[in-house]
Amino acid sequence: MTRPVAGVLGAPWSTGVRRRDDGVVEVGEVGVDALAAEHGTPAYVLDEADFRARARGYRTAFATAFAEVGTGVDVYYAGKALLTVAVARWAREEGLRVDTASGGELAVALRAGVPGGELGLHGNNKSDDEILAALDAGVGRLIVDSLVEIDRVAALAASRGVVAPVMVRVTTGVHAGGHEYISTAHEDQKFGLSVNPGRDGGDPPAMRALLAAVERPELHLLGIHSHIGSQILDPAGFEAAARVVLRLRAELAERTGVLVDEVDLGGGYGIAYLPGEVPLDPDRIAKDVASAVAAVGAELGTPLPRISIEPGRAIVGPAGLTLYTVGTVKPVALDDGRVRTYVSVDGGMSDNIRPALYEAQYHAELVGRSSAAEPVLARVVGKHCESGDIVVHEVQLPGDVRAGDLLAVAATGAYGRSMASNYNLLTRPPVVAVADGGSRVLVRRETVEDLLALDLG
Ligand code: LLP
Repeated sequence: MTRPVAGVLGAPWSTGVRRRDDGVVEVGEVGVDALAAEHGTPAYVLDEADFRARARGYRTAFATAFAEVGTGVDVYYAGKALLTVAVARWAREEGLRVDTASGGELAVALRAGVPGGELGLHGNNKSDDEILAALDAGVGRLIVDSLVEIDRVAALAASRGVVAPVMVRVTTGVHAGGHEYISTAHEDQKFGLSVNPGRDGGDPPAMRALLAAVERPELHLLGIHSHIGSQILDPAGFEAAARVVLRLRAELAERTGVLVDEVDLGGGYGIAYLPGEVPLDPDRIAKDVASAVAAVGAELGTPLPRISIEPGRAIVGPAGLTLYTVGTVKPVALDDGRVRTYVSVDGGMSDNIRPALYEAQYHAELVGRSSAAEPVLARVVGKHCESGDIVVHEVQLPGDVRAGDLLAVAATGAYGRSMASNYNLLTRPPVVAVADGGSRVLVRRETVEDLLALDLG
């Protein structure tokens, strides 16, 4: 094998990732050797410029495409993908609002200084405290997810003497996305209210909820929300869902005279995880969805609503990588005569549960040096005590991979830190931002003292 060529690595890595002439990879002009020396490993490394560019890219693409069909767009960054105070500020500085899905996410966004009016709160089982925190913060919208929640939000709004701005989350029956667990608009799952008639043949749950929300004086019905799934690579699902939601909006207007102002089409825009994979192009998807929306609008003869979207992964996923140090390297003979080299790193399923949970595929490279050694079939595994603790199922790594090497896994910015655990009482890695040749810690590494402090003995 020839040595890896110096230069930009390209997707699935963030745009600021390049290999220097000396073989060391850098992110945002900081070498990974320097990052490891300063912050230790494992560490989540975020390329700030890449995050900001993707946030801007989505905002501009959707604003432009929908302006052409005559309506406006709000882009909410889905904080569940990764939310820290700095990340929420970057999103806001790039003109995005922030979508939260719990009291914790709401608190971080508020700490970042995002005004309540630019926040949304989701959740299929919000607590009273979460609903009250949202009302007290003056959130721009609560997305209600069930008929009972309509009553609960109305009662809590009354207790505070406010009118709650709500959207109703509906399930359109459009099934899209990477894995069953991250596909959210088919019927047999917990989210939203179906647009299909109930078993009694009466109004669909979605319509019943919309009618109830229109009638309650404690609620202001802003619009209808649909999220169809995650890691979606085919635009057809977004277009189909938009059609269903716009028809529902027109039907509600016919029955009540209330034409709601807004339609949210959710998140789910897919990214590249492996070299050669093609992510959704924001310009293309924005144009496709805008023309689908315009076409149904014309067909129905209703003025277009304001549109909102909630991308998470597509903004932060490619901006992040995880930096590990290699430990044990073990060749294992396979039944078919091949050898698989098990490369253990100093983290694992506690910092990235996605391979174990969704069989998610990732790409890894040695980043602390280049090597001309023949590549071997490798599996990157963690240090947890179970065999499903896999970080990268299959990847070619140089045959001289050894303890002490720095290894990076690409595109871990979304749902890595946000789904991390303390399994085996490992301490969760820091989130380190890199920009313009410097790095700073956004979330510090947990310590064993942190863990002990929670344990009251
Ligand atoms: N809006 C709503 C209502 C959502 O439920 C989600 C994701 C998003 C927006 C953002 O979706 P994104 O653009 O990031 O795909 N843990 C899984 C993903 C679960 C997504 C849940 N909802 C994973 O690691 O793939």
